[in-house]
Amino acid sequence: MNFDHFDFLAPFYDRVIPFSCLEKMLALLALPAPVTLLDAGGGTGRVAKALQPHLASVVVADLSAGMLAQARQKGLAAASAVTELLPFPAESFERVLMVDALHHVFNQSQTVRELYRVLKPGGRLVIEEPDLRVFAVKLIALAEKVALMRSHFLSPPQIAALFPADARLQLEAADGNAWLIVEKPEEK
Ligand SMILES: C[S@@+](CC[C@H](N)C(=O)[O-])C[C@H]1O[C@@H](n2cnc3c(N)ncnc32)[C@H](O)[C@@H]1O
Repeated sequence: MNFDHFDFLAPFYDRVIPFSCLEKMLALLALPAPVTLLDAGGGTGRVAKALQPHLASVVVADLSAGMLAQARQKGLAAASAVTELLPFPAESFERVLMVDALHHVFNQSQTVRELYRVLKPGGRLVIEEPDLRVFAVKLIALAEKVALMRSHFLSPPQIAALFPADARLQLEAADGNAWLIVEKPEEK
């Protein structure tokens, strides 16, 4: 696995960006529930660790060895993987989460396909992203381009458009963040 800027940031990441919205995330994911959750692009596991007591089990998947080392130090199950090709069978998880990672991945549409593939029918997927419709977020997106970070921001409607027609979608937005809540229908 190549070294990237997240390997460098990993030891400081949780102190710089502490996770502070547990109640909101529990509501978005319809937790607590005795379910399995995949935190894709889950980094140091700062979100997964907070959610863990409210779940049956949780796995963090990420491509950064440095970020995953932090997740493992927290006692979390961690898989080295790109979100464009997740190493899990179809319909493995009742919950799938991606926080602040979609704009960093190599391929957004392939990632969305994979997140939806590993979601169980009747399950729920939540994607949190900075809301590109907000002016300050547009500036951040521009700054990340100038800094040559590999980021590609999509607006919430653009993310929603990547899902198949059968997916049930809801959108919430507040304080410069947007949450896309996706439900996969039960099989008939
Ligand atoms: C801004 S961090 C967010 C980490 C975590 N979701 C959180 O909120 O703390 C973005 C993460 O996405 C990971 N990432 C970027 N592209 C990825 C890809 N294609 N597959 C897997 N992980 C990826 C990075 O290594 C990094 O850990």
